[in-house]
Amino acid sequence: MGHDFSKYEIIEYYGINMAIPEQVYSPHDDTDLISEFILEWIKKFETTKENLNLKSIRVLEIGYGPGTISLLIVSYFLKKKVNFFHAGTEISSLAVETANYNAKLNKLENFVNFLEGNLFEPLNTDELNEPYDLILFNPPYLQSEPDIINESNRQLIDFAWDGGPSGNEVLLEFLNHISQYLKKNGEIFFITSSLVDQKAIQHALEIQNVKNLEQKTKHIFFEDIILYHCKK
Ligand SMILES: C[S@@+](CC[C@H](N)C(=O)[O-])C[C@H]1O[C@@H](n2cnc3c(N)ncnc32)[C@H](O)[C@@H]1O
Repeated sequence: MGHDFSKYEIIEYYGINMAIPEQVYSPHDDTDLISEFILEWIKKFETTKENLNLKSIRVLEIGYGPGTISLLIVSYFLKKKVNFFHAGTEISSLAVETANYNAKLNKLENFVNFLEGNLFEPLNTDELNEPYDLILFNPPYLQSEPDIINESNRQLIDFAWDGGPSGNEVLLEFLNHISQYLKKNGEIFFITSSLVDQKAIQHALEIQNVKNLEQKTKHIFFEDIILYHCKK
């Protein structure tokens, strides 16, 4: 039997309705930072002549959680009659189930491909494997606490914040493969924290031949969260 989502209060995020179990990441400041800029980006994208000739814009979100950003983008494209292909990957099985539930809740289930697995691994067909115009990732970016969390007591929500011993491992693993999945002139948005090594991120981007276009910063509690916007 699947998870019982009927017991959750429905929250609304930019017009998208969502049921979110405690073990799945609900929208936070980092989600807001990506959402704000992606909506601006899409508005600009629509008005650029060369983009109007694109047959279909290919969008990939890694770590979609309950589907928040993916559903927001897809509903916007549908409203604006932009042709698109969406895919997403997510490591937490409960988040996958949640995103599919939320897609149905918003009648968007025929427009999304919410896949389960690690980073790019689920992109295992020709259609999924073809490079993307836009890739997004709000990754886990806090340092893990190996004394507290180990494989036997790991909870599903830990995947949302545990970025590995330095906090940067999951993001760097993502960046180390990015060029292969990004079209020429394709763009990526991802989040990181001022508490992790920014030089390692910039080095990974250089190796992948991806240019850092701009960064936006938001201060929360004891750190800055940073949105990177980059282009191949
Ligand atoms: C900070 S949450 C972001 C959720 C949502 N995209 C948002 O912005 O609110 C990070 C998400 O990435 C997922 N994740 C962590 N490591 C992953 C990996 N290696 N591959 C795919 N998804 C991963 C987590 O399960 C979690 O849902």
